[in-house]
Amino acid sequence: MNTFTILKFTIDLLAVLLLALGIKGLSKVRSARQANRLAAIAMGLAALGVLISSLGDVGISINAWLWIIVGTSVGGLLGFVIAKQVPMTAMPETVALFNGCGGMSSLLVAIAVAIFPLDSSQEVNFVNNFIEPISIAVSVFVGAITFSGSIVAMAKLQGWLSTPAWTQSKLRHLINISIGVVSFIAAFQIFANANSDGLWLLVVSSTLLGIGVTLPIGGADMPVVISLLNSYSGVAAAAAGFVIGSQLLIVAGAMVGAAGLILTNVMCKGMNRSLLSVLFGGSLGSSVSATKSPSEYSSITSCSTEECALTLEAAERVIFVPGYGLAVAQAQHTLREVSRVLEAGGIEVNYAIHPVAGRMPGHMNVLLAEADVPYEQLKEMDEINSEFPATDVVLVLGANDVVNPQAKNDPESPLYGMPVLNVQESKTVFVVKRSMSSGYSGIKNDLFELPNTSMVFGDAKKVLGDLLVELKELGVGRRG
Ligand code: TAP
Repeated sequence: MNTFTILKFTIDLLAVLLLALGIKGLSKVRSARQANRLAAIAMGLAALGVLISSLGDVGISINAWLWIIVGTSVGGLLGFVIAKQVPMTAMPETVALFNGCGGMSSLLVAIAVAIFPLDSSQEVNFVNNFIEPISIAVSVFVGAITFSGSIVAMAKLQGWLSTPAWTQSKLRHLINISIGVVSFIAAFQIFANANSDGLWLLVVSSTLLGIGVTLPIGGADMPVVISLLNSYSGVAAAAAGFVIGSQLLIVAGAMVGAAGLILTNVMCKGMNRSLLSVLFGGSLGSSVSATKSPSEYSSITSCSTEECALTLEAAERVIFVPGYGLAVAQAQHTLREVSRVLEAGGIEVNYAIHPVAGRMPGHMNVLLAEADVPYEQLKEMDEINSEFPATDVVLVLGANDVVNPQAKNDPESPLYGMPVLNVQESKTVFVVKRSMSSGYSGIKNDLFELPNTSMVFGDAKKVLGDLLVELKELGVGRRG
């Protein structure tokens, strides 16, 4: 073992440690920013490790060094600029694009090694004859699916691509299964002869499979699919690690694959849906009509912002429940101002965060962090549910499904079994939304008819702005 190899091993180990700490840190809002930085440093170290190890290789050209440095710099800069400029609302599309890049990298690495084998001696051994062809096949298959699936996901979320009618028929399953069979045959050909035409057949069939599986999925289900594609990009990277014999890539890819799968599972549980029903079409989602007529509701009480402000003024404990509508209205900063006035008036304020409120993992956390809401006021569902009975006022802001009691009370409801926020247990509930339209699930919300619920109709930003004026007029912020 020469000095360069030992140095590379040490750097790789450090990178893996930082990556593991980064992924762990991402599970908490408080540590997420720092965790992201740690993971970025780990990636930088990985590139440095490759450069250092190549110093030990006799005959490595200066060109190879240049390619690595230019590639890392251009890629890093592009990623930095895109991430800085993208609005929070476009985060799912951006994640999809980045996943696609990951899938494409693994795909290109596998193609390159299949065409220009690393061990040119073609010696018959376990690695050359078994590990390498299997890793190439897996890397091409998963990498191509991740790439094309992610690009379709991004295009659909951007509104560049709509769902073609034929993809909603059973025919799509037949087509996808046929393409899957072709991919399997092509992968077998690669195994039989690493340089065969099977390689290109697998590239084409897997790319088509990625498109075929993602195209029928409705835009609102897309975040779950993106999380799954994120997991695939990790699997593809791990397979590429086997292809080029990089332990760091294998470990990092496996970590991303496992983390993506866990996140997908958490999202499915939070939505009370199985992954299969998301992938192959279930009862919820964009296919369900998103509007319900007000006539479906028999006893609705609505009130003005003035009445709402008066009730808030008399409260001691208030909980805000943010939902998708708050993000649409971009009302987080106005909400924070309302919160500041209430706190200045000696009222205890907390925010109840449902795991799938909004349309992407951590949507509400990110939104409220943007408005400088203190982390300690953000309460996860399990923590806050027991606090509703002792709460005077709950303000539901553009949330719907995540506060629907049907999920607990009605076994016939498509939401039945989904964990929800028990806001109805508080003394008074105000629901801020523009109309009686349903949420993502497309179903009626029984909360709106309960005697302690009042609707405050309007755009969340406008209502919160009016509420702020009313509270200030009542002198709430000046009380101590
Ligand atoms: P939803 O159930 O989707 O309800 C959002 C509500 O916001 C709508 O009823 C809408 O009513 C209202 N709204 C829209 N624009 C508004 C505005 N400008 N001002 C005020 N209100 C506005 O939201 P939720 O409670 O956050 O639940 C999320 C849903 O999305 C769940 O069913 C979840 O399963 C699903 N989902 C979540 C994710 C992730 S990872 N978070 C991913 C995919 C799907 P009006 O039109 O009447 O205003």
